[in-house]
Amino acid sequence: QVPYVPSSTKQVENVMSLLKGRAGKMVDLGSGDGRIVLEAYKQGFRPAVGYELNPWLLTLSNYRAWRTGCYGKVFYQRQDLWKVNLCDCNNVSVFLAPSVLPLLETKLLAELPDEARVVSGRFPFPTWMPTISVGEGINQSWAYDIKTVRQIEHSKAEGNPE
Ligand SMILES: C[S@@+](CC[C@H](N)C(=O)[O-])C[C@H]1O[C@@H](n2cnc3c(N)ncnc32)[C@H](O)[C@@H]1O
Repeated sequence: QVPYVPSSTKQVENVMSLLKGRAGKMVDLGSGDGRIVLEAYKQGFRPAVGYELNPWLLTLSNYRAWRTGCYGKVFYQRQDLWKVNLCDCNNVSVFLAPSVLPLLETKLLAELPDEARVVSGRFPFPTWMPTISVGEGINQSWAYDIKTVRQIEHSKAEGNPE
């Protein structure tokens, strides 16, 4: 449903800039060749975890980790992102097809803690209001603070304009 297209170097830079100053657990949902997880680890996120279904991409991710001295320090897991519980994730990145983002909004809102920040590369979430966005064209990335998203959703449900 969502093909493997690696983030560009500029996109990785933009995603990480939106997580600057944050700490704790970082997960990339659909981690591809692992480049975002590796960068997150280098920038101090612990643990840095990637969930990916494709076994070849997991092998490639581990190879890339080994080559940079990070093997065994970053975690690449063969798991369906829809089945992972995200209740302890403070920092989440996604680069997925627009068609799955509506469903992902529902999952993230149901599971993430209030303190979580979600960064989406290339495609924005369809109904959420971003806190900030950086870059342009295919490298644009959007950051969403879950507490703010929840407040806006709540006020929409009450019938108040934002
Ligand atoms: C557009 S790529 C992004 C890769 C990486 N996050 C990056 O930014 O370079 C999307 C990735 O999601 C993976 N994927 C798609 N559906 C998935 C699922 N249900 N569970 C885990 N991974 C999935 C694909 O195999 C693909 O590698």
